[in-house]
Amino acid sequence: MNRRQLMQTALGGLAAAIPVKVAGEEGSGVLKTVKPKPATANDARSFPKGFVWGTATSAYQIEGAVKEDGRGVSIWDRFAHTPGKIFDGSNADVAVDHYHRYKEDVQLMKAMGTKAYRFSIAWPRIFPEGRGKVNPKGLDFYNRLVDELLANGIEPFPSLYHWDLPHTLQERYGGWESRETALAFADYAGYVTEKLSDRVQRFFTLNEIRTFVDRGHESGILAPGFKLPPARLNQVRHHAILAHGLAVQAIRAKARRGTKVGPAENIFAVVPIIETPEHIKATEIAMRELNAGYLTAMLEGRYTDAYLKAAGADAPKFTSEDLKAIASPIDFVGINIYTPDYYISASNKPPGYQSLPFNKSHPRMVSSWHRLGPETLYWAPRLLQKLWNVKEIYITENGCATSDEVAKDGQVYDSDRIMFLRSYLTQLQRATSEGAPVRGYFLWSLLDNFEWVAGYAQRFGAIYVDYTTLKRTPKLSASFYREVIARNSVM
Ligand code: FCB
Repeated sequence: MNRRQLMQTALGGLAAAIPVKVAGEEGSGVLKTVKPKPATANDARSFPKGFVWGTATSAYQIEGAVKEDGRGVSIWDRFAHTPGKIFDGSNADVAVDHYHRYKEDVQLMKAMGTKAYRFSIAWPRIFPEGRGKVNPKGLDFYNRLVDELLANGIEPFPSLYHWDLPHTLQERYGGWESRETALAFADYAGYVTEKLSDRVQRFFTLNEIRTFVDRGHESGILAPGFKLPPARLNQVRHHAILAHGLAVQAIRAKARRGTKVGPAENIFAVVPIIETPEHIKATEIAMRELNAGYLTAMLEGRYTDAYLKAAGADAPKFTSEDLKAIASPIDFVGINIYTPDYYISASNKPPGYQSLPFNKSHPRMVSSWHRLGPETLYWAPRLLQKLWNVKEIYITENGCATSDEVAKDGQVYDSDRIMFLRSYLTQLQRATSEGAPVRGYFLWSLLDNFEWVAGYAQRFGAIYVDYTTLKRTPKLSASFYREVIARNSVM
C-alpha cells in the first residue's frame, strides 16, 4: 500500500481504525491504521449504553437548489443577496449541493459510524408562501432523505425551523413580529409531522430561538436584519416561544402517537468560576434568569418576576393561555453548546450572582465569538437536570470552525478540532457518568457549509468541502469521531 491508499483506508470508513503517525517519521505525514480497543461497559471514559452519536446540519446552509421543485423564497435568500450582509459576498444558492448529493452524504455519515442525523426541513419547500398551498415536491425531498437514512441505519432527527422563514410571511405579517407567524408555524409543523412520523420518532421545533430573535431583530446581524426597540423585540421573542408551544400542540394532534418533540435552544451557557457550593448556587440562579425569555418560560410556563421587572413597560403582551401553550409538555430538551457565555461567581446583592469579565487572553477558536470552554458541556446538562428535572437531553450542536486547508498529500489535518472535541466530550462524559440524562450528541457539522454571515469563510465540518468542485474529503477529525463512536468512549 502506498501512503495515499493507506490514508484512504484510514479515513474511508472501511474498518474502525484511526490513523496515527508512525514513530520515527515525525512530520512525514505517514499514517498507519491501528485496531481500536473494543468498548467495554466499565471503561471509566465510556458513555452510557445506547448513547446516540450523530452529526448536524441545516437546510439553508447545505441544500442549495433554492429555485428547484417549487421552493419558495426565504428571508435568508433575501438577506444573503443584499449587498454587504455576508462577509465574503456569498449566498447559499448552491451551498454544498446536498439537495442533489444527499445519497453521497449519507454514505459519509455511515462511514463515520454515526447512527443519527439532525437536519432541518426548509419551511419554504413545504409551504412556499408560509401557509396555504402545499408543495408536494418539497416534501418528497425529505421523504427521500428519511428513507435513505433509515436504509443506512441512521435515525433522522429533523428540526422544523432553522431560520429560513418563508419571505411571504415576513412581507405579509412582519414575520415574527406577528402572532400570525406563530400560528402558521404550528400548521406547518402539524402537516410535516403527520407526513413523516410513520418513520421519524423525534422532531425538534425551532433551532436557537435566542439567536434568530436577538441577532435577527436586535443587532440585525442575521436575517431579517432588524434593529427593533425593546418592546417590539420582546414581542418577537414571545411569538417565537409561542410558535414552539403551538407546534408542540399541533404535533400531538397530528403526528403518530408517541412522536417525541422538544426544542433545540442556544441557552446562555453559564459556568461556576470555582466549583464551590456558593458559586454553583449562584450559577443556578443565573441559568434560570438569563434564559428567562426562552427555555425558562418554556419549562415553567411563566416569565420570571425579574424578567418582567427589567422589561417594565416594554414587557411582551401575552395571555395566560399563551403561557400554557408555551409550556406544553415536551419529551426532551435539545441544547446547542459551543462556548461559555458567562463565568459566574456568588454575590450577596441582587440578582444573587455576578458574571465575571473574560480575561483578554481567554483562548478562542477561529470564530471571533468562540471562546473555548469545555466545561460548558458538563454544566449545561447538570443545570437542566437540577433546575427543571429534565429527563432527556440532547446536545443538538457542538463543534468549532478551524482554519482547515488541504495539505500537499490531499489530507486535512484539523488537529485543533480534535483537541476541541476531546476536551468537550471529556466534560460531557463527566456529566453522563454522574447521571445527567444526556441521550445523544450531534457534531456540528457533518460538512463545511454556508456559515450565515461568515459565508464560506468558516469551516465547521468534519468533512471538508472544496467549494469549486464540491468534492468531499473527510478530515482527520472524522477519524477521531469515528473512533469515539466505535468505542462509545472519549480517548
Ligand atoms: C449555531 C447555528 C448553526 C451554525 C453554528 C455554528 O448557532 O445553529 O446553524 O451556524 O452555530
